Amino acid sequence: MLVSVGREIRRLFPRQAPRTYVVTSPNVRRYWGQTLEKSLHRASVRYSILEMQDGEPAKRLATVEHLAEQLVREHADRSSAVLAFGGGVVGDSAGFLAAMYMRGIPVIQVPTTVVAQLDASIGGKTGVNLQSGKNLVGAFHQPRAVFVDPEILSTLEYREFRSGLFEALKCGVIRDGQLFEMMEKAAGQILQRDQKLISRMITASIRVKAEVVSADEKETGLRRILNFGHTVGHALESATLYSAFLHGEAVAWGMIAACHIAEAVGACKPNTAQRIRTAVLGYGPLPPVSCRAQEVFERLWSDKKVVRGKLHFVLPRSIGRVKIVADVPQDVIRLAVERICVHE
Ligand SMILES: NC(=O)c1ccc[n+]([C@@H]2O[C@H](COP(=O)([O-])OP(=O)(O)OC[C@H]3O[C@@H](n4cnc5c(N)ncnc54)[C@H](O)[C@@H]3O)[C@@H](O)[C@H]2O)c1
Ligand SMILES: [Zn+2]
Repeated sequence: MLVSVGREIRRLFPRQAPRTYVVTSPNVRRYWGQTLEKSLHRASVRYSILEMQDGEPAKRLATVEHLAEQLVREHADRSSAVLAFGGGVVGDSAGFLAAMYMRGIPVIQVPTTVVAQLDASIGGKTGVNLQSGKNLVGAFHQPRAVFVDPEILSTLEYREFRSGLFEALKCGVIRDGQLFEMMEKAAGQILQRDQKLISRMITASIRVKAEVVSADEKETGLRRILNFGHTVGHALESATLYSAFLHGEAVAWGMIAACHIAEAVGACKPNTAQRIRTAVLGYGPLPPVSCRAQEVFERLWSDKKVVRGKLHFVLPRSIGRVKIVADVPQDVIRLAVERICVHE
């Protein structure tokens, strides 16, 4: 698939392929840069490569400004395009660059991590972090195309790879019972990176995200179901200063906590909640939650998705169906958080 990106770009722009500015990181370039370059070269797509670091600290305005200056130096104009080639950090930053540069030029996403393939590259959200918080500056800018090649995941570090799988499992719980069942049964093979199953998992997850997002592009209603596991997940990430968990691991604990809540308020049957918890733990082990429950509990209310002081939880009803609940009693939330913390 990566080998055919050049040809696909030609198909996308039949009159003339745009001059293409590939934004990537040294790490991704080292593994896969040659394959992409060959493909662009063979299709006679004119391109330049711009590098940025990846990892969360690189996702900031200074990086985008630096890249924009490079675009000017390289004479990029309104007929040029950006190709984001990397994980979510590269995808979000390069997408934002494309949204801003000369008030917007096309972006093509070629995601290289599980998170980027089934989540970050889909839906058009782009942006960077501020000192005061994650993703606080951004724009909606839909990609002209997203090219997903699961084989690229073969070089991903194991923990990074595994962490992304929790977002796929989330897609199953919220909207695709078949995906959930497949992941529930085949955890061993998926963790060993069985190509066929991974392709199926990614395709199904992308479908869930794409359907939800196209029904609600600007996140006013349905899109909120994608936050299943993220309310407690974000609180865990911030309570541990983003150092104890990868995002997907925090979401995994968040899904477990949401199942405790769902069970307590009767949103789903106890065996449904148990089934989801077991499936999540099947993709473990998860780093233990060693912060204080009270700390996590307090952080819940500083999430940017708190609406007028009300905390919303996405709770499972059955496998493949969720509902959003705004009035979960505080003691139920506290108990659910305490149950995932090791010290209390
Ligand atoms: N826009 C959205 O809707 C959306 C959705 C989910 C996440 N995100 C964002 O995505 C970011 C996280 O993305 P991420 O998890 O991909 O992190 P990342 O981009 O930092 O990549 C993680 C690590 O994997 C390495 N890597 C990437 N591809 C590789 C490959 N094929 N082989 C070997 N190593 C590779 C990178 O060098 C990096 O060290 C966060 O900033 C998050 O906010 C955005
Ligand atoms: Zn997420």
